Amino acid sequence: MLSKKKIIASVAIMSAAVLGVSQATVAQAAGVTGKVEVFSWWTSGSESAALNAILSALKKSNPGIEIINAAVAGGAGTNAKQVLATRLAAGDTPETWQTHPGGELKGYVDQASVLDLTALYKSEGWNNVVPKGLVDSMTYNGKTYSVLTGIHRANAVWTNKAALRKAGVSFGESVTFAQLEAAAKKLKAAGIAPLCLGDKDIWTAAQLLEETLVGELGAATFNNLAAGKASWTDAKVVTAVNHFNTMLTWANSDHKALDWTGAVAALAKGTCAMNVMGDWAYGELIVKQQKKDNIDFGYTVIGDPKTFVTVGDSFVIGAKSKNAAAGEAFAKAVMDPKVQIAFNKLKGSAPYRTDVSTASLGAYQRAAAKTLATGTLVASLVHGQQLVAASVGQAFSDGVTVLQANKDAAAFGKAMNAATKG
Ligand code: GAL
Repeated sequence: MLSKKKIIASVAIMSAAVLGVSQATVAQAAGVTGKVEVFSWWTSGSESAALNAILSALKKSNPGIEIINAAVAGGAGTNAKQVLATRLAAGDTPETWQTHPGGELKGYVDQASVLDLTALYKSEGWNNVVPKGLVDSMTYNGKTYSVLTGIHRANAVWTNKAALRKAGVSFGESVTFAQLEAAAKKLKAAGIAPLCLGDKDIWTAAQLLEETLVGELGAATFNNLAAGKASWTDAKVVTAVNHFNTMLTWANSDHKALDWTGAVAALAKGTCAMNVMGDWAYGELIVKQQKKDNIDFGYTVIGDPKTFVTVGDSFVIGAKSKNAAAGEAFAKAVMDPKVQIAFNKLKGSAPYRTDVSTASLGAYQRAAAKTLATGTLVASLVHGQQLVAASVGQAFSDGVTVLQANKDAAAFGKAMNAATKG
């Protein structure tokens, strides 16, 4: 027979055990377990810091989850996209991967390699907080397929303030080619390379051409060119392409040895003065180079300052991944309003949820978020966001490689006409 004392003690032990079990059950219900492989090309100082903001939030709400950061180095997905294509073909599908809305995302939808997230958008109420135009850019045949981390602006010109001061150059909120040319002359005279370029990977030069075309020809003409509804051999296009040819002669002499982060580092140092790059350069200037918005560096835009060339970053869930529930948990972490601010602060892109405040962001980002909400949006061709065949983007990038060798704007135009009308 058990004494009264012993009975009380064993009841206490039993209830502790029951409590232990129920606590474990609660923890499980609150989070997803198993592996989640997150595939991206975010490996630079600012890119990986921003990605970690999502991953740590994911871990916090899912303590039992095992996160595998499968990022493949190479800006703009130079290497990652190929690695991913090989993996998908082999049935080795990550739970989630990075892709741009528009044409690039549509490619994965057409291959049936991504899950339909429409029900998740509905149950989480995301349709109410994501602007309709952005939801549409991730929607095909009425089904929505990805979640956005933020929207980058491709058409920015970053400047080193001290270098411009030294050369006696100042810019307003936008510049023309003639102003850039006049600035380049002064900068050269001051012994500073006017343009910071890191075109070890061709996309950075292709982006310089894209932003020159958008800036000089305007959003509507650029969209028509990409869609094959305007001619690339038109005199105005040829002139803009020749301006690009001229700009290349302003670049730092080691440009072929550097990638985009190298060009940003050179800008931060001031050995060169202007870098035409998406605002992931803003993240890099702030996070990696520890520079200050509007003090160490400034920014302007070629052409209309209200035109915003979009490069959205979004994540899909692999249709054949082993742990779709974990992919869904990742999507929820991306969409968390707090994560959206923390991520974009480090990444340089604009948050887009209508219910988050941009007050804690830097001056550049607040202005960019405003232009995103009210300006003229153009999807980037170089970053796969234009809703055209992938071959058009490929032709543009191949055309830039040829242009760098032969400077033949008319031949570039002919090749692009063939690619867009073909
Ligand atoms: C873009 C991407 C950005 C940034 C950039 C450089 O394609 O949208 O988030 O990572 O490449 O790697």
